[in-house]
Amino acid sequence: MEPNDARTILDEELTRGLELIGGSATLDDLERAKVVALGRKGRFAEVQRALGSFEHEDKVALGQRANAVRTELQRAFDERRDELHRAAEDALLDADGVDITLPGRRPRPGSLHPLAIVERRIIEVFTRMGYRVVEGPEIEDEWHNFEALNIPPDHPARTMKDSLYVGVPGLLLRTETSAAQIRTMESQDPPIHVVCPGRVFRQETPDATHLPVFHQVECLAVDEGISFADLKGTLEAFAREMFGGDRRVRLNPDYFPFVEPGAQVAVSCFICDGVGCRTCGNGWIELLGAGMVHPKVLENCGYDSERYTGFAFGLGIERVAMVQYGVADMRLFVEGDVRFLSQFQGAA
Ligand code: PHE
Repeated sequence: MEPNDARTILDEELTRGLELIGGSATLDDLERAKVVALGRKGRFAEVQRALGSFEHEDKVALGQRANAVRTELQRAFDERRDELHRAAEDALLDADGVDITLPGRRPRPGSLHPLAIVERRIIEVFTRMGYRVVEGPEIEDEWHNFEALNIPPDHPARTMKDSLYVGVPGLLLRTETSAAQIRTMESQDPPIHVVCPGRVFRQETPDATHLPVFHQVECLAVDEGISFADLKGTLEAFAREMFGGDRRVRLNPDYFPFVEPGAQVAVSCFICDGVGCRTCGNGWIELLGAGMVHPKVLENCGYDSERYTGFAFGLGIERVAMVQYGVADMRLFVEGDVRFLSQFQGAA
């Protein structure tokens, strides 16, 4: 090879190498271009091998030229490699991209359970009348749940209620919030004005109108001179606050061991206004049990039944919620179906 040929080859190889490097679309292409331009089997290497046979002057001049070509190709190679790396990264980021302008997936806001809504309203009505909220334990002893409430061991009410015992003799899941009456009276003197909301338990097979676990609110007032008229007045005030201004209440004689006299309380239907409809049947909705606290119950708590009288009433929260919201099946309250529950959004 002549020095002149070598010079031409170096020029050609520079041009060709730059083209190959610039035109490579992938990192693999680029590696191949580098092998072609600078590899041992390429024409550039051929020139380098020939250098040794040239005269000193040509050797120096062409040696410098060869170095310059190599440096230039290496620089082009590095530059292209960086470009391709960046492009690959950009592509990856694009593929993985998050469009921050897309609207987000909003978590669905929860809502109060219909029973919580009704319980809160009932409690609000009573606390505005001056009643205090008390709570009792869900596991009760037979004294508070039965004996003190004038339900002795052989009393039919004990089987009537089909209680759930917990495996410890003398303890059971409370069958009514009335047990809290006793705890309140045991721990304080009259005057007493309390409401006790809570879960109660009875051995029931669930159906459209029964659940083994349900909720009650019990109301108790004890003081000197409290009469049946106070009971009726309080029930009327409650019914109007709860169900609307022109509600009336009707009391029919009924039996509960812990009251005398006892009454079943119905409220005039707030859907048909007492005319008679699908919800009420005859214009009245039976909602509460009520009565004057039995003297024996007062005495069981250490009160002087000659001096003090009182009234009590209790209602089922499920029952109130069913008539208020037109719910036909009580089991809906415990099934946790969002399609049901979400209908009460904003109801409180
Ligand atoms: N505790 C009674 C029940 O569960 C309701 C009631 C409460 C009746 C207070 C009279 C007085 O049915």
